[in-house]
Amino acid sequence: MARFLITSALPYINGVKHLGNLAGSMLPADVHARFRRLQGHDVLFICATDEHGTPAELAAADAGQDVRAYCDEQQQIQRAACDGFRLSFDWFGRSSNPPNHRLTQHFCEALEKNGLIEERVSKQVFSKTDNRFLPDRYVEGTCPVCGFERARGDQCDNCGSLLDPVDLINPRSKISGSSDLEVRDTAHLFLLQSKMQDRIRAWVDAAEDWPNLARSIAYKWLDEGLIDRSITRDLSWGVRVTQNGAPRPGFDDKVFYVWFDAPIEYIAATIEWAEATGGDWARWWRIDKGADDVVYVQVMGKDNVAFHTVSFPVTILGSGEPWKLVDRLKAFNWVTWYGGKFSTSEKRGVFMDQALELLPSDYWRWHLMANAPESADAAFTLEHFQQTINADLANVFGNFVNRITRFGASKFDSVVPDGGTPGAAEATIAAELNARLPTLTRFHEQMEFRKAAAELRALWAAGNEYLQVAAPWTALKTDRDAAAVGVRTGLNLVTLFAALAQPFIPDAAETVLNAMNAPADARRWPDAPGERLIDALPRGHAYAPPDVLFKKIEDADVAIWSARFGADG
Ligand code: MF3
Ligand code: ZN
Repeated sequence: MARFLITSALPYINGVKHLGNLAGSMLPADVHARFRRLQGHDVLFICATDEHGTPAELAAADAGQDVRAYCDEQQQIQRAACDGFRLSFDWFGRSSNPPNHRLTQHFCEALEKNGLIEERVSKQVFSKTDNRFLPDRYVEGTCPVCGFERARGDQCDNCGSLLDPVDLINPRSKISGSSDLEVRDTAHLFLLQSKMQDRIRAWVDAAEDWPNLARSIAYKWLDEGLIDRSITRDLSWGVRVTQNGAPRPGFDDKVFYVWFDAPIEYIAATIEWAEATGGDWARWWRIDKGADDVVYVQVMGKDNVAFHTVSFPVTILGSGEPWKLVDRLKAFNWVTWYGGKFSTSEKRGVFMDQALELLPSDYWRWHLMANAPESADAAFTLEHFQQTINADLANVFGNFVNRITRFGASKFDSVVPDGGTPGAAEATIAAELNARLPTLTRFHEQMEFRKAAAELRALWAAGNEYLQVAAPWTALKTDRDAAAVGVRTGLNLVTLFAALAQPFIPDAAETVLNAMNAPADARRWPDAPGERLIDALPRGHAYAPPDVLFKKIEDADVAIWSARFGADG
């Protein structure tokens, strides 16, 4: 058995995430964590809120709240939404907690000792009205290239030109609207990534378990050449900048850039976990403390790949310390809302908390993973959601469970019946299991979520075909033993199908496993041959048919939700 350290990209603190965010990081990470646990591996699944940076400061200001109070509240809200989606984090930390402050400062000092940090003075826009330096994207003005009047300091959204805020014509603060701006000198710490170019490339070359999307993004950055980047910002909310353990002179009004401290929180959140549970964090993260047998899996959206394949590894490798680096990296494209962007302000799309008001988490989990944006972006539409749920969950899985458990309850006293001998139909379904189960396992191991869901669906469908052929309801009229074989096999399939469904739809799977009184070994990931799996429950084993597992989504539901969530494309 291996040990799996699994992290999902850390959601920003500013607001509950939408279904697209969920589908591209936290949810697939959860499915994988559940799968690995079922296989019997030792799993540590870590997530946290990413709490620093300008977006948090501004969102707090918008809400009229102190930034810490805002983050405290939002963390609870996100935690509740994650619980509602049954995201089985071993720890859901906060990048604003003390371990991350200490560790971020530690990394910077280690990098500085290794000659990878340099203080440089640069020019930056200062707003006298706001009494602060403005981050590039909070300066707005006229584009010097195309004349667009609302260009951002970092980029013009009209012509796509990359800009420097000092290039803007008629610049103004996006925070206050004030044009009382001036350019001032300000010192920042630069991480000398250019010096790490060769080491990062060698590390990427050696990485074996990365899918193409991750690899090609990493090489794109390496081919363009790594540039030194500023890792501090003129903000007050964040990790203070230190030198030899004391406040760094000249950096009183500065903190680390959020993208410098956020990935360090993967480690720091594990320290939070260890402090709370007595666990041993170093055993998961330090090669010199026993982490050499850990497989470290990261899951994220494609916009995060460069930070995880280049920037964070520069921090880790540059420290010269034996930290664990990512082994397998799974990246996702976007889920769109009818082909466009999700947006809170424009009321486009369903967000995590709203989704749970409509339907239990399993419905969303199944649809999002069965249609995961793996090879390309995937459009979420309510109509498609309705189709998937009604076809896969209600008609195929739900119906299978219902039909056979009820029939067995009425004709065989709610126990697994004895008697009869398996025949051709049982041989067929056993062979199907022998062929498909290893494939399903492999897709999960490779984190091919769409394919894993398709394979599971195919197994459920094979179960329905089996019932069609075995037809215990017909057999009962002439041959009770033949009907007993059909019911027994069917009940074993119910248990097996639910066990296999646990990573994707944990609640429904548990309902079925409990209704079946499934013993512990029937709840683990199966590795027995089909013949044994269809006759695993003891004869006479009692169960109780579960209630209807999934209700169908009606056209009327879709109409109401479309109006509420802006489904006009
Ligand atoms: N908060 C970032 C986002 O939502 C992800 C941070 S991942 C980490 O895009 F590496 F910084 F932790
Ligand atoms: Zn322009």
